[in-house]
Amino acid sequence: MRTIRTRATISHLSKRATSKFFAFFFAHFYPRLEPGAVRDWRRGLVARASGRVLEIGVGPGLNLPLYPSGVELFGLDPNPAMLRHARRRARGLGREVTLVRAEAEAISLPAGFFDTVVSIFTFCSVRRPDAAAREIYRVLRPGGRLLFMEHVRSAHPAWARLQRAVAPAWSLCAGGCRLDRDTLGYFLDAGFVLEPVARAGGGILPVVRGVALKRD
Ligand SMILES: C[S@@+](CC[C@H](N)C(=O)[O-])C[C@H]1O[C@@H](n2cnc3c(N)ncnc32)[C@H](O)[C@@H]1O
Repeated sequence: MRTIRTRATISHLSKRATSKFFAFFFAHFYPRLEPGAVRDWRRGLVARASGRVLEIGVGPGLNLPLYPSGVELFGLDPNPAMLRHARRRARGLGREVTLVRAEAEAISLPAGFFDTVVSIFTFCSVRRPDAAAREIYRVLRPGGRLLFMEHVRSAHPAWARLQRAVAPAWSLCAGGCRLDRDTLGYFLDAGFVLEPVARAGGGILPVVRGVALKRD
């Protein structure tokens, strides 16, 4: 009994330490490593948010300075360490943001609550991307928009095979991030209509960005 409890405690502590490490890395080091083009794409995408906005996987709040001033902003993330960084950033910007510890798979808000949902490099990390896409569809109003930028499974079979092969090791080193997600497929299955998708990058890290619409 004691062994089981000790193991559970060790696993809990190591999960907490990992969550803190990734939050610190994302808040302080990742922005220096991100290519300028990707930063520009973030800026372009987030500038299109309007009305009542939810960012899923808000992380340390890297996108908070990029939102237009008139929006009513909500952010969710399951990692409390990420949320602490995001809260600090929001305070520094003098920006009001409702930050909630939650997963995109279960958003405890009414259907049709948001005009815009933003997802940037989050679908690679969610545990159940199909459920997350359906939940985002639910909380958007008819005519609402999901603004997304995600790295996805390659359209080229050889790269896709390599992505699948390295996915477990990559996930371990990158805080649960999966390289081989068919994210656009999840959006379509949830009922979204895709506007023309911009594609960039390639190889092991192809990136898609654009707008998924919830029909009126
Ligand atoms: C790679 S980071 C991206 C952070 C931020 N979107 C950005 O672009 O800087 C992925 C984020 O997704 C969050 N995440 C993981 N599982 C999630 C889930 N089930 N629902 C929502 N967010 C999740 C992680 O905690 C992390 O903050």
